Amino acid sequence: MASQIGIYYTAKQRKLRQNEELAVKREEIAPSQLRLPVYRSWCDEGFLLTCGDHSTGRFNTMTAGWGSVGCMWKRPMAMVVVRPQRYTRKFMEEYPDFTICHFPPEHSEALVYCGSHSGRDVNKIVECGLTPIASKTIGSPAFDEADLIMECGKMYFDDLEPQHFLAEFIEENYPNKDYHRLYFGEIKAAFGTKEYGSWQTTG
Ligand SMILES: Cc1cc2nc3c(=O)[nH]c(=O)nc-3n(C[C@H](O)[C@H](O)[C@H](O)COP(=O)(O)O)c2cc1C
Repeated sequence: MASQIGIYYTAKQRKLRQNEELAVKREEIAPSQLRLPVYRSWCDEGFLLTCGDHSTGRFNTMTAGWGSVGCMWKRPMAMVVVRPQRYTRKFMEEYPDFTICHFPPEHSEALVYCGSHSGRDVNKIVECGLTPIASKTIGSPAFDEADLIMECGKMYFDDLEPQHFLAEFIEENYPNKDYHRLYFGEIKAAFGTKEYGSWQTTG
């Protein structure tokens, strides 16, 4: 009986506890410690690429399935590719940084939604039910439900040149000649669950 006294919660307290239990526990992971199943996480699962300014609320997000993580100019690097017609592309041109967020499987519908609707037509953030949060090192926001967040500062961009395609299958991806623009970002900070590497706090 005594224990039952301890389990009385108001509705508000219950909601807070539920949120705490559901919250994804992320900590900072040094880029040198980052473990990422690269092909699976990009091609099979996808990320949300988000760009803009959290403090003003002006930002957009889209699903990104092509890209990479590696090393460039001795810096930890993430590369994303964005077609000209994406609303996100306007943001990528205007703002100096972006985030790449990976999510646990229960949020796969949000990725489908953000990959099939444009921020020009709908408020994706409201519709997909994810929670934008401020990043630690850059202005572009991330999402609280993510199990991995990479905060990136833009370093370089380039446009795919069809004259440089060395494999025939590449052109098939561009019936409308809407060749991607590549953006290389320096990973300024990464925050993830323990499966992505040892946390800086715990070594
Ligand atoms: C799984 C998946 C992966 C995608 N990867 C990319 C990508 O890497 N680059 C790109 O330009 N569009 C990609 N898209 C398409 C955009 O996410 C989609 O066109 C989106 O609606 C653009 O939103 P926006 O207009 O608000 O920027 C992908 C879509 C899906 C479903």
